Amino acid sequence: MTPRNYESLRSARWFDPDDLRSFGHRSRIMQMGYAPTDWVGKPVIAIINTWSDLNPCHTHFKQRVEDVKRGILQAGGFPVELPAISLAEAFVKPTTMLYRNMLAMETEELLRSHPVDGAVLMGGCDKTTPGLVMGAISAGLPSIYIPAGPMLRGNYNGQILGSGSDAWKLWDERRAGKISKTEWIGVEGGIARSHGTCMTMGTAATMMGIAEAIGMTLPGASSIPAPDANHPRMSAESGRRIVDMVWEDLTPKRMLSRASFENGIAVAMAMGCSTNAIVHLVAMSRRAGPDCAVGLDDFDAFSRRVPVLANIRPSGDKYLMEDFYYAGGLPGLMNRMGQYLQLDAATVTGRSLGENIAGAQIFNDDVIRTLDNPLYKEGALAVLRGNIAPDGAVIKPSACAPQFLKHTGPALVFDDYPSMKAAVEDENLDVTAEHIMVLRNAGPQGGPGMPEWGMLPIPAKLVKQGVRDMLRLSDARMSGTSYGACILHAAPEAYIGGPLALVKTGDLITVDVAARSIHLEVSDEELATRRAAWQAPPKRFERGYGWMFSKHIMQADKGADFDFLETTFGAAIGEPDI
Ligand code: FES
Ligand code: MG
Repeated sequence: MTPRNYESLRSARWFDPDDLRSFGHRSRIMQMGYAPTDWVGKPVIAIINTWSDLNPCHTHFKQRVEDVKRGILQAGGFPVELPAISLAEAFVKPTTMLYRNMLAMETEELLRSHPVDGAVLMGGCDKTTPGLVMGAISAGLPSIYIPAGPMLRGNYNGQILGSGSDAWKLWDERRAGKISKTEWIGVEGGIARSHGTCMTMGTAATMMGIAEAIGMTLPGASSIPAPDANHPRMSAESGRRIVDMVWEDLTPKRMLSRASFENGIAVAMAMGCSTNAIVHLVAMSRRAGPDCAVGLDDFDAFSRRVPVLANIRPSGDKYLMEDFYYAGGLPGLMNRMGQYLQLDAATVTGRSLGENIAGAQIFNDDVIRTLDNPLYKEGALAVLRGNIAPDGAVIKPSACAPQFLKHTGPALVFDDYPSMKAAVEDENLDVTAEHIMVLRNAGPQGGPGMPEWGMLPIPAKLVKQGVRDMLRLSDARMSGTSYGACILHAAPEAYIGGPLALVKTGDLITVDVAARSIHLEVSDEELATRRAAWQAPPKRFERGYGWMFSKHIMQADKGADFDFLETTFGAAIGEPDI
């Protein structure tokens, strides 16, 4: 047991000295009804809670935080709740991705500026996981992550519905005139019927799983459905554990290594992850420093080795996260894929990943497939490069129709989202299923914030002909619950003059996933002529957060973090003067 030396606690610098400043801190904490017995000798634990009245995925955090506090008190800590921006995927426009780095900054600065010794991070809805983890890594205090957990399966008239995925599918059926208004309203009421995150293998489930894989959660935490009684029990246990982590000085720096992030990639692949995993995991790893940083090529390399084992929609066609939990959840999956993991990586438990998952069982081999009967042998994600995306673009081969893995077709180019949205409803649009639809100016700067526009709708004309998939290319992201032959994150983006800006409708583009290439069939001379004529679009922001965002956002292949938040940007930030 680590010696419990109160004076060594960071918070004691605020509360302990016999001077006027500390008098102020003590009298102000007593103003809230606390007595010295509440804090003297106890680690102060910040609970960074991303609850809000407009975040249906975090509804339960208002109560759940009480379970966390109970655990902290039981273990001899002093809990303080510090709310942070909530980033509800469903409501925040133009995209939560515009604000992921803002949450990361808020988390870092909340922890740095307050008298706290450790942190519990409460998130789950897509960007909240990377935002909280990025901020906590940079702040450097011992931190544990509590995933919100997935909601229950959707249900409508006995039909199981999955977040996002089924909405897109059924919307196409409705556009094709096959679903009535009444049925559609029934789907609306049945597809999200409890609190918790999207329960497909979308970005939320992917990122919560990655947080567990890199060691930031208690074992099994990411798979527990939000309404399950095990969720408050896990929350209280996380509260108890963080207090000991403070005494053990188990900081992110001491815990996370390159191996942790490689485990994150491997698990993402086996889960059949959201494409958003790439941009977030890259950003998280870069926060931990150059030694930990992973990049696109690491994803591609793992994708070639690691089979997709989780038979969860949208890569799978049947099961949802609730089924994944009953089948053994992430500990079961990680135990099964142990040969692809670095089992000596450290975790918040103080034990290695291997120790955490030893003996974890699987109860349904159809939900979590065996290594010799995977959902896909390889190919959760692939990184394509070529003259149109020299810094890379990504595709999820496991979620697209096989004929598009090798395809040449004419481009149909849209410069912005509204014109594309209007055009696809035009019955006279000059488009065939062979076309490659291109949406540009939707990247980190152009979107702004890389909105999830990358699953361009199939033109109405083709939907009526029965077409349900075609190749699409953009510098945007797509929702983790999306599917289809969508090539995303093309870098550098069109808005800053990336080659995507030079494509014209009718140009041929060749995609070859096996060769990891994407090529615009236009000569270098012609491209040079087009480049000379290219004009930068007008600036999106002249003031405010957006202005700062535009000045400092990096491209997708670097994780779309702000340059000034990277560890290499300047000298480390010290402790505040008190
Ligand atoms: Fe919150 Fe999908 S909307 S996780
Ligand atoms: Mg999403």
